[in-house]
Amino acid sequence: MEHLQFARHRRLRHTANLRALVRETYLHIEDLIYPLFIAEGENIKTEVSSMPGVYNISLDLLEEELNELVSLGIKSVILFGVPNEKDEVGTGAYHDHGIVQKAIKLTKEKYPELVVVADTCLCEYTSHGHCGIVENGHVLNDPSLDLLARTAISQAKAGADIIAPSNMMDGFVAAIRYGLDEAGFEHIPIMSYAVKYSSAFYGPFRDAAQSAPSFGDRKTYQMDYANRLEAMREAESDIQEGADFLIVKPALSYLDIVRDVKNNFNVPVVAYNVSGEYSMVKAAALNGWINEKQIVMEMMTGMKRAGADLIITYFAKDIARWLQEN
Ligand code: PBG
Ligand code: ZN
Repeated sequence: MEHLQFARHRRLRHTANLRALVRETYLHIEDLIYPLFIAEGENIKTEVSSMPGVYNISLDLLEEELNELVSLGIKSVILFGVPNEKDEVGTGAYHDHGIVQKAIKLTKEKYPELVVVADTCLCEYTSHGHCGIVENGHVLNDPSLDLLARTAISQAKAGADIIAPSNMMDGFVAAIRYGLDEAGFEHIPIMSYAVKYSSAFYGPFRDAAQSAPSFGDRKTYQMDYANRLEAMREAESDIQEGADFLIVKPALSYLDIVRDVKNNFNVPVVAYNVSGEYSMVKAAALNGWINEKQIVMEMMTGMKRAGADLIITYFAKDIARWLQEN
């Protein structure tokens, strides 16, 4: 035995404090962004059927929810609107008194220091459920840009701290940057959904936001999940157009992409831990099949280890409680 040469990795694993000393990756409450679905109407707090613990909330009940988030130490939210009325061109998205604009205003009035990210897309507001203007069954690129820029400006006017365009039209960052600058919002950053794959993991979100496309799919604008180099092209053009943050979405099946983006670009990288990733864990946890806290902490740490600086996650409230326990 004394002639054997081998490394003693276990030296650094003997005790909890020793392991803490050499731990490389930490998750902080500041890393998390919590999504909220704001519904039109009154006295609404309806649990999304496919997302246990996630609700559609009306404006009159929003303050209560914000109180809880702030008391848990959550510092950032991302807002999605669930309007009552939709039309061909998504008017509700860029209406100065649209549901999200009202929610942004109210949130900033109650909690000025809370960072409010506005998701900028049309699909929750269009009757056909696509993320842009539709003509003859095609989603048109350039005509959609103008509406996106108008949406972003109306959100900035309402008080949004960050604009997060998610519609995957080419040039959306350029159009929004130009629009914001023209309107005097040159100080408002853009968190671009630069690398957004066409994914079955968005299923439960579409239940929550009632935003499933009424025909076809999103494959002509969202990316093919088999592609890695294309993600670098998407990230690069968004940086050139002025993106301040890059989002990779979904997260769990795309951690190689998170690492690639982190290594190749020097802006904060955001992993979006999407609805389907949340629902799968919740379903298994509700069945008693997994240890939810341990599973979620392992997933989140994995995303950070892969290079995510920030994580958008429906688990943010649960994580806040778990971090307080430790
Ligand atoms: C809107 C949007 C979607 C998500 C975020 N913004 C849905 C989609 O593209 O169909 C998905 C979020 C999630 O699944 O949690 N464009
Ligand atoms: Zn969309």
